[in-house]
Amino acid sequence: MPTNQAQNNFPFVAWLRDVAPYIHSFRGKTFVIGFAGELVQKGGLEALIQDVAMLHAMGMRIVLVHGSRPQVQEQLDLRKVTSRYGTGAMSGYRITDPAALECAKEASGELRLDIEAAFSQGLPNTPMAGSRISVISGNFITARPVGIVDGVDFMHTGLVRKVDSESIAHSLANNKIVLMSPLGFSPTGQAFNIAYEDVATATAMAVKADKLIFLTEYNGITDADGELIKEFSLRQLEDHISGLTLADADLKVLLQNAIRAIKSGVGRVHLLPHDRDGALLEELFTHDGISTMIAASDIEHLREANLDDVGGILQLIEPLEDEGILVARGRDVIERDITHFSVIEHDRVLFGCAALFPYSNGLGELSCLAVDPEAQESGDGERLLKRIEARAKAQGLKKIFVLTTRTEHWFLKRGFVRASVDDLPAERKELYNWERKSMVLIKNI
Ligand SMILES: CC(C)(COP(=O)(O)OP(=O)(O)OC[C@H]1O[C@@H](n2cnc3c(N)ncnc32)[C@H](O)[C@@H]1OP(=O)(O)O)[C@@H](O)C(=O)NCCC(=O)NCCS
Repeated sequence: MPTNQAQNNFPFVAWLRDVAPYIHSFRGKTFVIGFAGELVQKGGLEALIQDVAMLHAMGMRIVLVHGSRPQVQEQLDLRKVTSRYGTGAMSGYRITDPAALECAKEASGELRLDIEAAFSQGLPNTPMAGSRISVISGNFITARPVGIVDGVDFMHTGLVRKVDSESIAHSLANNKIVLMSPLGFSPTGQAFNIAYEDVATATAMAVKADKLIFLTEYNGITDADGELIKEFSLRQLEDHISGLTLADADLKVLLQNAIRAIKSGVGRVHLLPHDRDGALLEELFTHDGISTMIAASDIEHLREANLDDVGGILQLIEPLEDEGILVARGRDVIERDITHFSVIEHDRVLFGCAALFPYSNGLGELSCLAVDPEAQESGDGERLLKRIEARAKAQGLKKIFVLTTRTEHWFLKRGFVRASVDDLPAERKELYNWERKSMVLIKNI
């Protein structure tokens, strides 16, 4: 069915088709999701768990790491114990004396039960109906003390020394969701209170996660004018951090965790606001996302295609074939011709493709040029055309031609001129479809 019709008559069908490439791309991938205790405090737990349950049902492997700062504070207040924090670069770290440790244990125990309960609901007519999700928690974290910094003893405040990645991977492979608390244990059996950001980062690194997602008080990263920066490469993020002041100490710690994760091979780090309902789904299942994503290098990537791209290419061109904009090609043909294709991917999902077929007399055909409707009008079409021109030049071709029924003006604006069927190389002329009556456009390169 033509895409436009689907969008008009069946918004649901159009929506499902839009998200299908993401589901395809994320299935079997490991996501570590760390969320601040404030999310629970503000009543966001149930919605988060429903979204996580959906990701799990779609085949993603999920590790959840909860924070507990406000809950620990509540316990301290109940016991009338004053909480103490480090200063300067350590201002985000609580000084965990024995009373604070008891509070941390109590807060984590309660949170864990609440989260397990939220995963256990399966009432009909709720998003959790029939979900039957098992959650595993355990002593996955070996901790070491922060120790004495600038003369301040942090006592039972710890850092992650080691993550039992084998046990976590085993649970994930068995279709469990792994739930981790911000506590760890030393080989001598002592408990330590750890920042949940540290637990999430160390875990993502240890299990080689595809994504590390933080749901925190920060609504992404903003520039000097307060504008949200959607995408950061590692280098850009390092530059950004060097401009932060002491007042941004907590954000700095979070971003340093992001850098640590990316440097050790975690694919992407996302920073999402904890108080936006559905933030996780919006970030993962839309092209531009809603917040800040960090990657090792530029996230949009133009490259030559390989056999793994066949499914993605078919998904892009099939609706256009149905509409008669592109000539129908089967999977076999795409597979056979895959080395002729270039593709644009964004966060590992294909958003555009084009192919070049060389002919005699220094001529090459540009075909299958398509950009996903969600990503159009941001220059991807032009980038693909330039890549095809570069490939053509590298092959010693002098001109490229294109056969088009509806996109004439796009090509004319980019240096193509009208030509006739007689200008086609003989072997291509023989294949010309006189019923389709495509226009022939040609460009010197
Ligand atoms: C043609 C196509 C590849 C352009 O992709 P894109 O990423 O949006 O391209 P760019 O961002 O580089 O260019 C966008 C510009 O092209 C214009 N444009 C898009 N489709 C057009 C069309 N059919 N005719 C004329 N101009 C068109 C847009 O209005 C925009 O104009 P602007 O720069 O003045 O704002 C994309 O629209 C597409 O996939 N179309 C369906 C498939 C198709 O027609 N392929 C070519 C078959 S031979």
